[in-house]
Amino acid sequence: MKLLNPGPVTLSERVRAALQKPDLCHREPEFLQMQRRIRDRLTDLYGCSQEYASVLLTGSGTAAVEAMVGSLVGPNDKPALVVANGVYGERMAAMLKRHGRHFEVVTSAWTEPMDLAGVAERISGCACVLAVHHETTTGRLNDLASLGKLCRQNQVPMLLDAVSSFGGEEILFEEWNLQACAATANKCLHGVPGVSFVVARRNALQAPGHSPALYLDLHNYYELQEKDGSPFTQAVQACYGLDEALAEIRDQGGWQARRDLYRRRAAQLEEGLARLGIDPFLREGRSSILGSYRLPPGVTYAQLHDRLKEAGFVIYAGQGGLSDEMFRIAVMGDLTRGDLERLLAAFPTE
Ligand SMILES: Cc1ncc(COP(=O)(O)O)c(C=O)c1O
Repeated sequence: MKLLNPGPVTLSERVRAALQKPDLCHREPEFLQMQRRIRDRLTDLYGCSQEYASVLLTGSGTAAVEAMVGSLVGPNDKPALVVANGVYGERMAAMLKRHGRHFEVVTSAWTEPMDLAGVAERISGCACVLAVHHETTTGRLNDLASLGKLCRQNQVPMLLDAVSSFGGEEILFEEWNLQACAATANKCLHGVPGVSFVVARRNALQAPGHSPALYLDLHNYYELQEKDGSPFTQAVQACYGLDEALAEIRDQGGWQARRDLYRRRAAQLEEGLARLGIDPFLREGRSSILGSYRLPPGVTYAQLHDRLKEAGFVIYAGQGGLSDEMFRIAVMGDLTRGDLERLLAAFPTE
């Protein structure tokens, strides 16, 4: 079965084999050396300066996003500004609400780009900006260059949900004024679910933290991981997978080569679907990592899903109000050109 949902992904044989490494206690030096290596490989992947460090967490992408939001957004007088055009921007606003933080949201429709004019109007009065790099709801690659410019010009730090882009797209830490970004092992990095991480400025991690939670306190993880320790049990096998996946992406040419690979796959898919009369859901701003498409007339998502699953592929439904009109296909993971040809051949022809 080939997974075309936006994570977990189909594993390469190299990563799958790494999961079989010996049982290990997370307090033994062998694990702690691996933890250090993973943390370094994460920042090396983007050539981050020493000003940034990564913090490794056990949990899915949401754990990393909530650790970032809960630990780095304080009870400021100034509001945090959330930029939302899909499920994941709205989820960060929901986190701030639960944490009792002062915030405002600049919202656009799920089908639209971020409202940068709205951000420009409000940014100077804000403590930080929270945004989503790749809005997986629709497969939109948000315009981070423009948002980052606004953050830099106004000296407002940005917290970025890069859960579905880290490893597969460009991330300009300094240029976008990133204070932190949160991501996961099992999407563009091609690892297994269970570990996620935050890459953040060391000075933000060394300043007093604000986490109301004990488990998702980023500062606590940072302090102990810097001393080659670990506050809680880590997902050892998922770390084996991430360690190998990071070696694999490095050997294959880094995030740049992976982005090129996704671009080739997305073009093959989009051209093939166009020949079948299936249109992309977004007119512009489409990522190469995941495409959203209009369901063919007279075909429900469930019918399409089951037909493609029988042919060996798992696709993904639209979220919320989009579930009746849209389906999604991600091109992450171990896939060949031939796999995508077989997928296209399995679509209904009329
Ligand atoms: C942009 C984005 N943020 C956050 C998440 C949540 O990640 P998880 O389901 O691993 O908790 C996802 C999941 O698809 C995502 O795409």
